[in-house]
Amino acid sequence: MTDYKPFPDEFLWGGATAANQCEGAYDVDGRGLANVDVVPIGEDRFPIIAGKKKMFDFEDGYFYPAKESIDFYNHYKEDIALLGEMGFKTYRMSIAWSRIFPKGDELVPNEAGLQFYENVFKECRKHGIEPLVTITHFDCPMYLIEEYGGWRNRKLIEFYERLVTVLFTRFKGLVKYWLTFNEINMILHAPFMGAGLYFEEGENVEQVKYQAAHHELVASAIATKVAHEIDPENKVGCMLAAGQYYPNTAHPADYWAAMSEDRENYFFIDVQARGEYPNYAKKKFERLGLDIEMTEEDLKVLKEHTVDFVSFSYYSSRVASGDPAVNEKTAGNIFASLKNPYLEASEWGWQIDPLGLRITLNTIWDRYQKPMFIVENGLGAVDTPDENGYVEDDYRIDYLREHVKAMNATINEDGVELLGYTTWGCIDLVSAGTGEMKKRYGFIYVDRDNDGNGTLKRSKKKSFDWYKKVIASNGTDID
Ligand code: BG6
Repeated sequence: MTDYKPFPDEFLWGGATAANQCEGAYDVDGRGLANVDVVPIGEDRFPIIAGKKKMFDFEDGYFYPAKESIDFYNHYKEDIALLGEMGFKTYRMSIAWSRIFPKGDELVPNEAGLQFYENVFKECRKHGIEPLVTITHFDCPMYLIEEYGGWRNRKLIEFYERLVTVLFTRFKGLVKYWLTFNEINMILHAPFMGAGLYFEEGENVEQVKYQAAHHELVASAIATKVAHEIDPENKVGCMLAAGQYYPNTAHPADYWAAMSEDRENYFFIDVQARGEYPNYAKKKFERLGLDIEMTEEDLKVLKEHTVDFVSFSYYSSRVASGDPAVNEKTAGNIFASLKNPYLEASEWGWQIDPLGLRITLNTIWDRYQKPMFIVENGLGAVDTPDENGYVEDDYRIDYLREHVKAMNATINEDGVELLGYTTWGCIDLVSAGTGEMKKRYGFIYVDRDNDGNGTLKRSKKKSFDWYKKVIASNGTDID
């Protein structure tokens, strides 16, 4: 066994899920329909999440994995007990907006929805687990999309404020860590998922996306304000789909391309963590002829209510080139990147780069000087269980171990402030990108396949005991 330096005493080890990818029960206890419900598995999925193909309701001939998912709604006690058994200090999960406000614009919340989350949080506390709650993880009530056009409409700010006010009030004392929007930069790549945007023929797509982004940014700042007013103990974070861009070569044009790509993403966090639109973004709007409506009040709230910490997902680094002829792409968390010849890739083509995590952490730290939280990281892989549901997932352990080492070095050798680490999909769940069940990330296997067959039985994988040991030793015993 190799000994590593421990992580900070208060380090929040845990795992993460999202409501639509695990809860199921899409139409019970008053829950309204959401965008995430109507994205099927199969080749139409990407055009739908990109806002290019319209699907506002279930259609014949499609399978919609989120309808049942892994049925966390009815298994949460068993699932949280397993997380507790692994020694989780925190569990990142999200709220389904349409459980609280089924249509989104009501004045009175749905008590059954609130009660469900209260039960979940209490269950977490029973096992000594601190909930970390994403308020919006890709979900938006369908009614708000059909009636208001999703986040392109300023009214959404008001509805979101109502949502967060209800949540912060009701869960005061039960929840302290909040994230406003999951992977806020995803709006540029998967706008139906990120902001409930479907583009009509002839619409200026960039104008709509950045206007919607502005509304989300303002809503996020208002949420931060309200969170602090209701309970000064609350800590609010932004959330970025991160992964540093590398230049394809030492050619300055490649470096510039990488820097420009990074700015596309950091733009959001620049606003949320520093409180103002960076000049490069203002110039970009000018160049593209975009006219983003912003009030004085918007700019004030952005300035005065920046986030307490910066959280992000990290799966891979990315590569950019200034030469349009260089275009051999590989897949990766919705963003396609150029292939990096120095890296191995997962079965889904996502490149594996633990040192890239250290680079990303240091870059974000240097840029904002705010505490950070890695709220997603992990390996999506095909698992083959034995007859008891046991999976020898050494490939997953290897992936996670290397990333834990990278975090350790970043904390203990570079001195960055990292609050915690929640691996993605700590229990197997539906993939956001593909809708597949067979792309598994969990320590806990769930018996369900891509077509919705299976008993939903939960069983521990080899990585379950490994992660338990990592947490118990505070990151010193990782072999
Ligand atoms: C992030 C999302 O983009 O990556 C998650 O926040 C998602 O919702 C995760 O599940 C992994 O991506 P995928 O496509 O493998 O599920």
